[in-house]
Amino acid sequence: MVSITAKAKQRVVDTGESLVSTLFEYAKKVPFVRDRIAAEYEKMMKDIAGQVRPYAADYPTYTELPEQGRDREAILEEMRNFHGLEADRWKDGYVSGAVYHGDREHTSFLDQAYAIHSQTNPLHSDLWPSVTKYEAEIVAMTADMLGAKKAGSGPENEVCGAVSSGGTESILLAMKTYRDWAKAEKGITSPNMVIPNTAHAAFYKAAEFFDIQLRKVTVGADCRADVKGMKRAMDRNTICLVGSAPAFPHGLVDPIEELAELAQKRKVGMHTDACLGGFVLPWARELGYPVPPFDFAVPGVTSMSADTHKYGYAAKGTSVVLYRSKALRRHQWYTVTDWPGGIYFSPTFAGSRPGGLSAACWASMQAMGREGYLDATKRIVETGQKIRRGIDAILGLKVLGDPLWVVSFASGEEGLNIYEVLDAMGKKHWNLNGLHRPPCVHLAVTLRHTKEGVAERFLDDLREAVEHTRANPGEGSGMAPIYGLAGTIPARGAVSDLLEMYLDAVYDL
Ligand SMILES: Cc1ncc(COP(=O)(O)O)c(C=O)c1O
Repeated sequence: MVSITAKAKQRVVDTGESLVSTLFEYAKKVPFVRDRIAAEYEKMMKDIAGQVRPYAADYPTYTELPEQGRDREAILEEMRNFHGLEADRWKDGYVSGAVYHGDREHTSFLDQAYAIHSQTNPLHSDLWPSVTKYEAEIVAMTADMLGAKKAGSGPENEVCGAVSSGGTESILLAMKTYRDWAKAEKGITSPNMVIPNTAHAAFYKAAEFFDIQLRKVTVGADCRADVKGMKRAMDRNTICLVGSAPAFPHGLVDPIEELAELAQKRKVGMHTDACLGGFVLPWARELGYPVPPFDFAVPGVTSMSADTHKYGYAAKGTSVVLYRSKALRRHQWYTVTDWPGGIYFSPTFAGSRPGGLSAACWASMQAMGREGYLDATKRIVETGQKIRRGIDAILGLKVLGDPLWVVSFASGEEGLNIYEVLDAMGKKHWNLNGLHRPPCVHLAVTLRHTKEGVAERFLDDLREAVEHTRANPGEGSGMAPIYGLAGTIPARGAVSDLLEMYLDAVYDL
């Protein structure tokens, strides 16, 4: 029987919902209810376990070290087999986001850059000054792209930053930095952060990890941050505001200028999360697309995150966190002087880090250059616009807001369940992102979708998926019931339990 653990709840201010969640937590403790729920979970987990371990039948499972080391070529052969089984879907453009470039020439170039530096560790900057050079230049090039020269003069406008392992780490670092800054500079010991509810889950995570109260404000009807609502949510203990450029769910840029003005007036931090758009929006603007101000050119923006491992086309495992001043960045650094292991200092959460990934990131930026990013963005946004127009033309669907290349769409027809459309697309090999509040689906267009015929295939498949769903309502399997369940308040605790069990399953052999 699967056991249910009650997890300490995050300090979340989210009107009207916490009472029902609490009741659910209590209900789980009543033996009869608990047993019924556990039995249901067990059934669901059986299905999930099969999906997590598709190779279990055909390949050996290692729960112990092999007695003798295996032949290296045999190991590589096994890995190539897995790669072969997994690569087609993203290579052929069936996946939203995930692999942003993926051309063989580019990836093998990144692999070579990694291989040259695979033994390096930026923790030892004395041993590998090459990697320190790469990281400093990654930060400088990213800052330059994101308005550093327009930030103003003086040490308070000297944009700087650090390389992290990904968007989530960049965001966690920025939020920890604000927490420590607010404590040191303002004496705030019960901090809160005010975010639009569409800000990435990494902000929710930061709040939980760093004990910052999360005040999430539901976005307006246009799916963008509600500035007035966020203003109302602030108080003396607010340490920062957050806006996205664009936000993951609907691909829309929040009103950063207004948020930054508010933050500046109230003397709090303002983080623009450009993990998704940092390497697209500057070039889209240059191409003449309407891109609202979002970077350090906006007074009041005090930090940003931009992911090199997405549209920077680096290998997975790097991102950049930027600050308007070195004084602010100081609150990110970690130093310890009384550890028996010696004097120790590190810029991010990790200690040792993979210098090879920074090398590959630097190599990607060098190989792309301004022209390369401009050209890639042109292809991506043109494809995004084609897809957006195509979706708008499909009866029963509607595009949310005015997106450039991350296009989200919802059902515009009574009785048409968008999650069943998502499932129908899954049966046609597509791997799209299911979203909720409101129920919708998105496609983040990458260079994979700019290949000939991919956008057309997507639209044809989507049209068929909608027609199929309309003709066979209620047929949805897969994610449809999970999203349906998550949308009903009492079931949210159950979905959370299921997700934790899924994480267990990932490591269960
Ligand atoms: C807007 C935004 N912020 C943050 C992240 C988190 O990035 P990562 O998955 O690299 O941690 C994402 C990921 O898609 C994102 O879209």
